[in-house]
Amino acid sequence: MGTSKPQGSFILCCLGRKAYWGSLELHHFPDASAVVRALAPDEPVILNRPHAAARAARFFVEKFPGKSLYAVKANPSPDLLKVLWDSGITHFDVASIAEVRIVRGALPDAELCFMHPVKTASAIAEAYKVHGVKTFSLDSQEELDKIIAATADDEGNPASDLRLCVRLRVSSEYSELSLASKFGIDLADAGPLLQATRQVSDWLGVCFHVGSQAMTPFAYVQALERVRVAIVDAAVTVDIIDVGGGFPSIYPGMEPPPLEDYFGAIHRAAESLPVSYSSELWCEPGRALCAEYNSMVVKVERRRGKELYINEGSYGALFDAAHIGWRFPVQLLNGDADGETEDFSFFGPTCDDMDFMEGPFALPANAGAGDYIEIGMLGAYGAAMRTKFNGFGAGMTVEVGDEPMASQYLGDRRDPRVSDNVVSLR
Ligand SMILES: Cc1ncc(COP(=O)(O)O)c(C=O)c1O
Repeated sequence: MGTSKPQGSFILCCLGRKAYWGSLELHHFPDASAVVRALAPDEPVILNRPHAAARAARFFVEKFPGKSLYAVKANPSPDLLKVLWDSGITHFDVASIAEVRIVRGALPDAELCFMHPVKTASAIAEAYKVHGVKTFSLDSQEELDKIIAATADDEGNPASDLRLCVRLRVSSEYSELSLASKFGIDLADAGPLLQATRQVSDWLGVCFHVGSQAMTPFAYVQALERVRVAIVDAAVTVDIIDVGGGFPSIYPGMEPPPLEDYFGAIHRAAESLPVSYSSELWCEPGRALCAEYNSMVVKVERRRGKELYINEGSYGALFDAAHIGWRFPVQLLNGDADGETEDFSFFGPTCDDMDFMEGPFALPANAGAGDYIEIGMLGAYGAAMRTKFNGFGAGMTVEVGDEPMASQYLGDRRDPRVSDNVVSLR
């Protein structure tokens, strides 16, 4: 069932070089099948869908009742950053000085917000003094002291233009990936930190993260209730409420309610908070802005029973599939689409047993060595996770024009309200 390599390796060589040397000039194909027909690639190929990322960005810009920052960690590709910028995203949540430099290099006029609550002093100083970053998050007095010291001028005068966001610990119980244990100050301790931060901030914010892939809008309502208590207890004026990321995408077995429901619930809950009349509402989506941006073409090298040995795995874009059992949509590109399907697991290309993605991934029953598979929805925490372990991780990137395998933004979903408040039981 394998696809024979067309027109020799000359095309592959030229296309590969072009994509490698000039990522701004990627080759364009109609879809993944056309990529396989043209290239018969021996290495994985990342497929970019700029139109899907642009649509997601416009959706947030137009419909979120406040400002939408892009959480760069989900996918720091400069090409993607430009697509988001061109679609109206002007603010970027960065988590490291490397991300600060990437965004500043790609988008000189972007507003950067350093939202990792534990930073090095040198990263804070470079971000503030070299790259003009004014917004930082923190969840401890030590971090506040560090920010004050690192942003002071040469005479030791403190900065007067800081926008500091205190990160509150909130529940991750409605999300597929918890972010509740590492960062965030407990409500019981938040008062003194909010007051101390208010003293040195031009703008004071409160931020939180409900965990990634939040499966119900109620996650935000509950978190905002905690924000209310924190503000009342501390009796401070707050200028920014930042509801973080967590906005979901669609994956097999995970069909969340429409994003409009999240926006409506957040709007209502935020409207009733005791904040300054000119306060701003922010969000920091990562996954929701880029999940649909990438898919990947992989090749099957071997079949053993229901296990397919493919050329991408747990040290690459399938990190989440391997380590937390995340399921991604798949389709056989050169096979018999109407044939009977079976559930398969995948082994990745390295020598490790743990390079294993249990799935199940439903594919035609006769899938086997030489076949190509498209794995969808890898734009968030997928394409960005690739390593060179065992010498793998190479491969080219191309653009395709078809639609992603699932979309929050296409308007052709079944009425998702039937799944309202559903939390996956995984
Ligand atoms: C501070 C912060 N903001 C935003 C995000 C993006 O989250 P998501 O991709 O779930 O939208 C993350 C993810 O870890 C984060 O740590």
